[in-house]
Amino acid sequence: MEKFLITTAIDYVNGAPHIGHAYEKILTDVIFRHFSQRCEKSYFLTGTDEHGIKIQKTSAQNNMSPQDFCDMNAQKFKDTWKALDVNYNQFIRTTDEQHTKIVQKIFHKLVEKGDIYKHSYTGLYCTGCECFLNSKDLTEDGLCPDHMKKPDVVEEENYFFKLTKYKDAIAKHIKTHPDFIVPSFRANEVLNQLENIEDISVSRATSNVSWGIPVLGDDEQSIYVWIDALSNYITALGYDTDSSSNKYSEFWPANVQVIGKDILKFHSIYWIAILMALDLPLPEHLLAHGWITIDKTKMSKSLGNVISPTGVMEAFGLEIPDPLRYYMASAAPCGKDGNYSDEDFKEKVNAHLANSMGNLLNRTLSMLVKYFDGNIKPEFLGKNVLKQSALDTIKSVKHHFDYFEVQEAAQKIIELVDLTNKYVTDNAPWTLAKEEKMVECGVVLTNVLQVMTVISSLIYPYCPNIAKAMAEQLSYDINSKLDDITCESVKVGHFIDKENIKPVFLRIDSELADKSKK
Ligand code: MSP
Repeated sequence: MEKFLITTAIDYVNGAPHIGHAYEKILTDVIFRHFSQRCEKSYFLTGTDEHGIKIQKTSAQNNMSPQDFCDMNAQKFKDTWKALDVNYNQFIRTTDEQHTKIVQKIFHKLVEKGDIYKHSYTGLYCTGCECFLNSKDLTEDGLCPDHMKKPDVVEEENYFFKLTKYKDAIAKHIKTHPDFIVPSFRANEVLNQLENIEDISVSRATSNVSWGIPVLGDDEQSIYVWIDALSNYITALGYDTDSSSNKYSEFWPANVQVIGKDILKFHSIYWIAILMALDLPLPEHLLAHGWITIDKTKMSKSLGNVISPTGVMEAFGLEIPDPLRYYMASAAPCGKDGNYSDEDFKEKVNAHLANSMGNLLNRTLSMLVKYFDGNIKPEFLGKNVLKQSALDTIKSVKHHFDYFEVQEAAQKIIELVDLTNKYVTDNAPWTLAKEEKMVECGVVLTNVLQVMTVISSLIYPYCPNIAKAMAEQLSYDINSKLDDITCESVKVGHFIDKENIKPVFLRIDSELADKSKK
C-alpha cells in the first residue's frame, strides 16, 4: 500500500463533543495508526460542520453570533481530540475561507453542467436531520422518527441536484464492489433506499437560512448543508475545479471514509453522486460504524446521560487517554452498536491493560533484574517457542484491520498476551531460578520479552502512550513498520536497570467508578 487516506464525518458544532463523536474519532485514529505502521504516506482528515439552520438557531439562543458560537465549539472538539491523542493531520471547518470558495465553485460547475437546476418546492424539513423528509418516512403522528418532532412545512424555490441521473451508476458501483460499503450487510439497505431516490434540494432561501455559503451569482439562495458538508473531504485536500493541489492528487481518493450508520445514505448516495458529477474518483471503502449507547440506553440531553469523553478521563483520574481509547475502539464488532458503562470500562481496562499486559512486562523485567542483574546472556537466545504465535498474531491483526475489524484485532492481541502469561505460569521461571536452572530461566524471560516487543507494536494504535512506555523499557523502536517485525529485537547485553522498571498502566481505582456522569 503506497498511501493511506482516512476521513471522519465532520461533527455539528451545536454542542460539545460526546462519547459517540469520540467513538468515531478514536476508531478512525486507531485504524489510521495501524495503517501508518504499514505504509509510507498516510493522512487523517477530520473537522467540523458549521453551517445550517440548527447552528443559526442554537447560536441565537445563546446570544452569540453564529461565527463566535462555531469558534467556541469547534475549539471544544479540537481540545477533546487532543486530550484523546486523536492524531489527525488536518482539521477542516466548513467556515474556512478556502472551503467556502471552492464549494461555491463546485456548485457553479454543477449548475453549468446542468446537474443543478432551480425548482419550486414544498417539503417537510426536519431541522434535527438538516434534511427534507418524505411523508412516508414519518411516524403515524407525522413526526420525524429520529427526532420525534414535527417537521416544518417549507415552501421555497430551491436549487435541486439531479440525483436520479446517477441512480443506476451508483447501484452498479455498489453491486460490483462488494467491499465498498463496510459492513457489507448495509449495502442492501442502501440499494433499497436508492430505489426510491428523488432529486434533492441543495439550497435554501437566504431569508430562511442565512447561515450558509451563498450561491455564486444568486444572493437569495445559500448552499444547503450536504453539498457544503460532503465537499469538505476534497476541499480540505486542495481540490479545485480548475487545478487541484499536490496534496489532493497525492491522497484522493480516500482509502476509507468513516461515518456513523445514520449518515450512510448521504455518503453512499449523495456524496458518490456528487463525485460522479464532478468526474472524480470514488473512495475505496465507506465504513459505517454503529451507535454507542450509555448503559444500554440511547444518549440524549433529556435523559441527562450524555457522557463527555474528557469527563470520563477526569472522573477516573486518567492522565493518559489510552484506557478510554482501548475501551472505545473495542466496544463493538465492526458496524454494530456498542455500549459504554463505567463499571464495564473499569473492569475491562483493569483486566486487559493492567493485570494481563502491564503486569506481564513488569514481572518479567523484575525477574530479569533479580536473577540476572538485568542482563541478557548469549545462551538465552535461541529458538523461541512463542515466536510463531507472535508472527501469526501480526498476520491476523493485519487481516482484521484490512476489514476494519478493530475490536476483533484487539481480541487477537489480548489472546497473545494471555498465551504469553500462560507460558510464564507453565514454565515458572521463579521455580527454575530456585532450582538453579539459570539458562532455562533466562530463556523463558527472554522469550517473553521478545513477544512483548511485538505486543507493544500491535497495541500501539490503541494505546500509544502505554506502548511507548513499554517500548522504552524494552529498548525497542516503537516506530518499526509491522512488516519489519521479527520477534528478535532483544539483544545480548545489559537490558535494564531496576530503577527504569515502571508499571506502564496502574489499575483504575474502583471507588472512582460511576462518577463519569456526575
Ligand atoms: N455533520 C454531519 C456529518 C457530515 S459528514 C460530511 C453529522 N454530524 S453529527 O455531529 O451529528 O455526527 C457526527 C458523527 O458522529 C456521525 O458520523 C454520527 O454517526 C456520529 N455519532 C453521533 N452520535 C453517535 C453515537 N451515539 N454513537 C456513535 N456515533 C455517533 O452527522
